[in-house]
Amino acid sequence: MTATDVPQTVLHAQRMDSIPYSGIRKLFQAATAMQAEGRDIVQLTIGRPDFDTPSHIKEAAKAALDTGQVHYTSNFGTPELRSAIAAKLRNDNGLRFDPEGELLVVNGVSEAIATIFLALVGPGDDVLIPVPAYLNYMHCATLAGARAIPVPLQQGDGYHLTVADLEPYVTPQSRLLVLVSPHNPTGSVIPEHDMAELAAFAVRHDLLVVSDEIYEKLVYGGARHVSIATFPGMRERTIVVNGFSKAYSMTGWRVGYVAAIKPIIDLLVRVIQYTTICPNSFAQAGAVAALLGPQEPVAMMRDEFDRRRQLVAARLAELTTCSASPMEGAFYAFIDVSSITSDDSDLALRLLEHASVAVVPGSAFGEVGNGHIRVSYALGYDRLNEGLSRLIEGLGDARVIGR
Ligand SMILES: Cc1ncc(COP(=O)(O)O)c(C=O)c1O
Repeated sequence: MTATDVPQTVLHAQRMDSIPYSGIRKLFQAATAMQAEGRDIVQLTIGRPDFDTPSHIKEAAKAALDTGQVHYTSNFGTPELRSAIAAKLRNDNGLRFDPEGELLVVNGVSEAIATIFLALVGPGDDVLIPVPAYLNYMHCATLAGARAIPVPLQQGDGYHLTVADLEPYVTPQSRLLVLVSPHNPTGSVIPEHDMAELAAFAVRHDLLVVSDEIYEKLVYGGARHVSIATFPGMRERTIVVNGFSKAYSMTGWRVGYVAAIKPIIDLLVRVIQYTTICPNSFAQAGAVAALLGPQEPVAMMRDEFDRRRQLVAARLAELTTCSASPMEGAFYAFIDVSSITSDDSDLALRLLEHASVAVVPGSAFGEVGNGHIRVSYALGYDRLNEGLSRLIEGLGDARVIGR
């Protein structure tokens, strides 16, 4: 059901008229339904590491259950986890945030996004969102009553956000800028010199910045993650969001965190008090073990993603008429298929039907994504290779491309 499909006879809030079903879920569900019928489908859709959560993290959560850590925690999250996060931000990112008042543990970055928008923006406020984008940003801004302003990223710039991209869209109503680096869906990583310029831009226009760093550990080749909060004048105006889903393969645990100055965290916690109260207590114990325990599993998963990334790059080079994004980080390739079709949703459905491979249409990440598909390489090497063969073959198959 899309937003416009909401039957007018069903009582619903008017704001829901502009909230569609996620295009990612749609494809994933279609593929899953075909699998349930016994079809062999390779899923290249979902942004979820395929690894198990490292065992020491699971053991810590089990121990927490066994020792009765089954109650509500502080609205801010447990002191142990906040202190481990503060140490992580200091050591990994060069950021100093006080575990008492400047850190908030939440149910995944997804909850952070919704909470930030509810607490900080509303009617009359504009949120600048580089697109194609992880669509929670667009839709949570809309749900909060603010205006989501899409800022197109340029394929020719490797989808790196620059000040030149932002200049035409910034107005006195602009309150928040969303930065996601490494980026979903393009896999781009903003280089340090561009980040410095974006920081100066945010200061110049008095913008708050939501910096989504959830893919920070997944960078490859010469790419390096740097937090915009480290630049002059930015600690005060950056809301760093990060979590455990991608780096530690903990998507189902639902733990993430927000680092920001105290007045901002105070606003966020006022929302949390009346929505989710706190994250899961024993999942937080697991998250402490994730941060304080051995980091080798993170490196192992990163290295394996890198190996797969190189496979994807090599295989996609076989496509003479389509080009892929640079794949500097995260685990996505964003492929320009505009030479084949102008209807990427239809192409994705045909690939599913005739080539038995599921990919996400680029338009699921905003209108500018039309004419693209996103491939996730968060699945086993051999299966990925099989999926890529099907994709490459499908993009040459008359039944798929309609010629
Ligand atoms: C950019 C980005 N932010 C946040 C999330 C969700 O993170 P979490 O599992 O912590 O809610 C995702 C998931 O795909 C993502 O791509």
